[in-house]
Amino acid sequence: MTDTGDNSLTVRDNRTGKEYQIPITDGAIKAAELGQIKVADDAPGLSTYDPGFTNTASCRSSVTYIDGEKGILEYRGYPIEQLAEKSSFLEVAYLLIHGALPTKEQYDTWVHEITHHTFLHENVKTFMQGFRYDAHPMGMLMASVGALSTFYPESNNIADADNRHMQIVRMIAKMPTLGAWAFRHAQGKPYVYPDNELSYTENFLAMLFKMSEPKFDADPRLVKALDVLFILHADHEQNCSTNAVRSVGSSQVDPYSSVAAGIGALYGPLHGGANEAVLRMLRRIGSKENIPSFIEGVKNGNEKLMGFGHRVYKNYDPRAKIIKKACDDVFEVTGVNPLLEIAQELEKIALEDEYFVKRKLYPNVDFYSGLIYEAFQFPPEMFTVLFAIGRTPGWLAQWLELVQDKDQKIARPKQIYTGDRTLDFVPASERWAGSAGITPGIS
Ligand SMILES: CC(C)(COP(=O)(O)OP(=O)(O)OC[C@H]1O[C@@H](n2cnc3c(N)ncnc32)[C@H](O)[C@@H]1OP(=O)(O)O)[C@@H](O)C(=O)NCCC(=O)NCCS
Repeated sequence: MTDTGDNSLTVRDNRTGKEYQIPITDGAIKAAELGQIKVADDAPGLSTYDPGFTNTASCRSSVTYIDGEKGILEYRGYPIEQLAEKSSFLEVAYLLIHGALPTKEQYDTWVHEITHHTFLHENVKTFMQGFRYDAHPMGMLMASVGALSTFYPESNNIADADNRHMQIVRMIAKMPTLGAWAFRHAQGKPYVYPDNELSYTENFLAMLFKMSEPKFDADPRLVKALDVLFILHADHEQNCSTNAVRSVGSSQVDPYSSVAAGIGALYGPLHGGANEAVLRMLRRIGSKENIPSFIEGVKNGNEKLMGFGHRVYKNYDPRAKIIKKACDDVFEVTGVNPLLEIAQELEKIALEDEYFVKRKLYPNVDFYSGLIYEAFQFPPEMFTVLFAIGRTPGWLAQWLELVQDKDQKIARPKQIYTGDRTLDFVPASERWAGSAGITPGIS
C-alpha cells in the first residue's frame, strides 16, 4: 500500500481484505489505478462499468466550462452571454481554436482566410448532385464532409501544425457552402456559389435564399440572430458528437473523417433533433387552453415536455435565455410565430409547477430555437445542419486539443463479456443435414 496522503481514496476489497490507496487529482481517480485491485495475481483487475460515460472523464480540456447546477457556460473562460451579445461567430471560432481572443491583425487574417476558402471543388458539387432529390441534408453534409478528405489527402498529416491549421480553416469556411447546397438540392434549386464580399453569416443566407437578384440583401437583424445561434452552438464540452469526433480522431485519421463522425452523432434524434420535436409538440397542443391538460399528461408520465430538462443543466440553460431574447428580434422582421404564445405560456406554467420545480426541469437550448429556425423558413431537416455549422469550430478545437495531448491514446473502452465461451463449432453441412434444398455456401 503506497501512501498518497490526504488527497486519496482508500479502497478496501472485501473479497480479499486488502486495502488500496488511490490518488485523487482534480476530483478524479485514474481508472487504470483500479486495475491493481485483483482477487489473485493472474485474475483480471477491477474496472468500472459506465455506459454512456455518465461519470467518466475522457480527457483534460480547456475549451469549454459548464456548471450545470448554476447554469453557467463559458468558452475559454468567457461567459456565453457576453460572447453572444458582443462578439461574432468568427471571433468565437478563433477563440475556441486558438484559446485566446485575436488582436485586430490576427482577426483580419482569420476572417480573410475563412472567407477565401468558402469555395468547393467542382467535383464536390457533382458528388452532391448525385444524391436523391429527397436526400436528408444531414446525410448529404456528413457524406460530403467525409469526402473532403479525398480532395485534401495531405490532411492526414496531422502532426504538422500548419497543415492542421489549413484543414481547420477549410472546414469552418466550407461548412456553410455544403449546408446551403444540401438545402438547395432538396428544393431542386441551383446551387449558389459563395460571395466573398459578404460576412460569414450573410454569405450563408445568400447561398440559401438567393434567386435571380444580383446581390442578396439580408436583414441585419436576421444576420445577427443567426450569428448568435451559431455562437450558442459552437461548443458544449464532451457531448455525444464531440466524443465521436475525439474517439474517431484518436485513431489519428484526418480531421474531415473525424468531423464526419461527429455529424453522424449529431444526426441522431437524442442529440440534434429535440427542437423539431418541440415544434411538433406545440402544434399538437394547438392553443393555450389545451396547455393544462397537456401538462397533466406529462405529469402522469404519458409523455415528456420536449425542450425541457437536460443531462447537465439543472437550472435554466443559459443558451435558452439568449435564444428567447433573439426570438423578439427575429419576429420583428418575420412576424410572430403563433406557436410562440403557446411556448411562453407553457414555460410559465411549467416553471411554477411542483413536478418540474422538484426535478429541476428548465427550458433547454431547443425549447425556442425551432421557433426561430421556422421563422427563417428552414424546414425541420435543416435544423441539425445549422447546429452542425455552429458546432464545427468546437469539434475542431476539441480535435486539436486531442491530437496535441500526450495523455491521449486510441479510444478503446473495456467491455464486460456476457456471451458463451469455448463452444465447439459444428460445420454447417452437419448442422443443416436433412434441411431440404439448403447447401451451405462458402463465402
Ligand atoms: C434531456 C433529457 C434526455 C435528460 O435526461 P436525464 O438527465 O437522463 O434525466 P432523467 O430522464 O433521469 O429525468 C429525471 C426526472 O425528470 C423527468 N423528466 C426529465 N425530462 C422531462 C421532460 N422533458 N418532461 C417531463 N419529465 C421529464 C423524468 O421523467 C424523471 O422523472 P422521475 O424522477 O419521476 O423518474 C430529458 O430531460 C429529456 O428527455 N428532455 C426532453 C427532450 C429534450 O428536450 N432534449 C434536448 C436536450 S438538449
